[in-house]
Amino acid sequence: MSNAITELGYLGFEVSNLGQWEKFATDVLGMGVSPGPNAASRWLRMDEQRNRIILTEGPADDHAFAGWRVADAAAVEAFGRGLTGKGIAWSWGKDDELALRAVQCMLYFNDPTGTRHEVFSGPLLATDRFGSSKVASGFVTGEGGMGHVVYQSSDYPKTVAFAQDVLGLAMSDTITAQAGPLPEMRIEVSFLHTNERHHSFAVAPQPPVPGQKRLHHFMVEACSVEDVGFARDRCLAVGLPVVQDIGQHPNDRMISFYGVTPSGFLVEFGWGAIKVDQNNWQVRSYDKFSEWGHRPAAAA
Ligand SMILES: [Fe+2]
Repeated sequence: MSNAITELGYLGFEVSNLGQWEKFATDVLGMGVSPGPNAASRWLRMDEQRNRIILTEGPADDHAFAGWRVADAAAVEAFGRGLTGKGIAWSWGKDDELALRAVQCMLYFNDPTGTRHEVFSGPLLATDRFGSSKVASGFVTGEGGMGHVVYQSSDYPKTVAFAQDVLGLAMSDTITAQAGPLPEMRIEVSFLHTNERHHSFAVAPQPPVPGQKRLHHFMVEACSVEDVGFARDRCLAVGLPVVQDIGQHPNDRMISFYGVTPSGFLVEFGWGAIKVDQNNWQVRSYDKFSEWGHRPAAAA
């Protein structure tokens, strides 16, 4: 049995204001919200799985963990043996950690900058169908997993190597372009895949400014472009900044906007990304982040 990662299965965020997040997840993103297994946690739902985002109360307002799915418990164990072989320390998830994520089996370890990653199997499925009250078309999940996560790393080369050599992800492409007005803000970003989704993991160098978060943004994909427009309008209607208005990326061809979450990191809400043919993919490079658009939006 392969111990290869099949998808980004869940994300955990530590958030300082659970109430604001509940409202944001429900009213803006159109996710389902339910209580987690303890008073300081909430589950956000996007599909048949009981949760896709796990919120825990705490001061960080940042990434807490990423959950990478493998086939079964034997594959989790095999992944652990692989980590040991690479000299990477790891631990089994404890019962309360499994309960918080609603998975059968999980181990965890850190990347070279201390960001926590988890390999798991056996996510709990809900017994009722999910229908979003806001996103009529639903979310694109399935074989491509829940979406993607984009880190800003204090050690970019080591994090790229970690994604390839430890997580076993494959390079999709890189973008090297100007990310701000200063000359040193010309940066390279790497995009990596493990299934048909163009990237489940991306990483950029962390800007050399104090107070930076590990997480730049996470992305969820709707099944219709109209739902991107409706979500963009809901952001502006509740007074949340749309820092990059509707636009299209040159690499995954996604049409999306970027809003600010209650924790300060961003959410990309998109539609229409290309699918990777994993047997016939050639790595590319690009010199711009957006084909068109993705500029700050005026207030509603
Ligand atoms: Fe993104």
